[in-house]
Amino acid sequence: MKTRVFSGMQPSGNLHIGNYLGALKNWVRIQNEYECIFCIVDLHAITVYQDPAELRAKIREIAALYLAAGIDPKVCSIMVQSSVPAHAELAWMLTCVTPVGWLERMTQYKAKAAKQESVGDGLLQYPVLMAADILLYQAGIVPVGEDQAQHLELTRDIAQRFNSLYGDTFVVPGTSLPAVGARIMGLDDPTQKMSKSASGANHAVALLDPPDKIRKTIMRATTDSLPCVDVTTAGPGVLNLLAIFQAFSGWNDDQMRQHFNGMRYGDLKKQVAEMVISHLEPFQERFRRITSEPGYLDGVLREGAERVAPIAEDTVRLVKQCMGLYTSPANAAL
Ligand code: AMP
Ligand code: TRP
Repeated sequence: MKTRVFSGMQPSGNLHIGNYLGALKNWVRIQNEYECIFCIVDLHAITVYQDPAELRAKIREIAALYLAAGIDPKVCSIMVQSSVPAHAELAWMLTCVTPVGWLERMTQYKAKAAKQESVGDGLLQYPVLMAADILLYQAGIVPVGEDQAQHLELTRDIAQRFNSLYGDTFVVPGTSLPAVGARIMGLDDPTQKMSKSASGANHAVALLDPPDKIRKTIMRATTDSLPCVDVTTAGPGVLNLLAIFQAFSGWNDDQMRQHFNGMRYGDLKKQVAEMVISHLEPFQERFRRITSEPGYLDGVLREGAERVAPIAEDTVRLVKQCMGLYTSPANAAL
């Protein structure tokens, strides 16, 4: 049996090249090797307030972006988290074996909570729901960007704690980070990771930005005061531009050094911009085609949910049995 892969993205903000290089591109790369489930995690998105109409539209946009990136719905399941109720069900059961101190230590929680006047409980529970997403499908591999590594560590801790309390139940999943592009930094401030929620006009390149805007954003990227590229001593802004180029092009370190060492920053930026545009233009064309086909997206999402729901329901039944919750002998699904 093929190892199962699970990953997801939140339908909030605009997906950017960090999301693509850190996660989506690698999903496409491994989709034929494993049994993959790619989720649109709408229940995670509502841990901070979302305008309902915008959220509804974003869920469809993210699904179309998965497809435009090359995720093949014939070999992978693409589904929306809230359409399989077992995600929320398992999350509660896992909440009950998770010490609150583990959750309070999460850096993403601390950063998000610091920005809110009143902190919703969902924000604290966020990583437990993420653990439920993964453990529900007994996923062995979870391909994500570096910022999710701590949440995956916690997922493993929760799985191990459950297994030691109730007996071997869950596969303990591994993390899969890309070699290049696991942490793309903001173009306006290379000390901060590129983020969907940052507000600066020159912070990120969104996957649906038009070529002119992409050029402008990259040409304005923060570098440093050196005159030209030196791959070994470059500051974070230049390293970030080089990482973006390398992740899109697939060049090795030698090729990068030979091509870019000694190049002026203006030329480096031009080449990075053209490399990004050459990948995003066909991507955007596919996105337009997918979103103009009536009914297609809903069909993909329905089929995805139908395919994975029985796996999720089996796990919930198993967990109920392990914990001593009620399961009807006549109909084990209840
Ligand atoms: P999110 O935007 O939080 O829904 O993240 C979706 C996926 O993109 C996750 O796997 C993240 O780890 C990844 N990701 C988000 N931001 C970045 C970034 N700046 N660089 C690399 N990967 C990222
Ligand atoms: N927390 C992840 C992020 O913001 C999204 C996510 C939710 C996820 N559930 C997941 C990623 C399960 C991988 C596996 O990026």
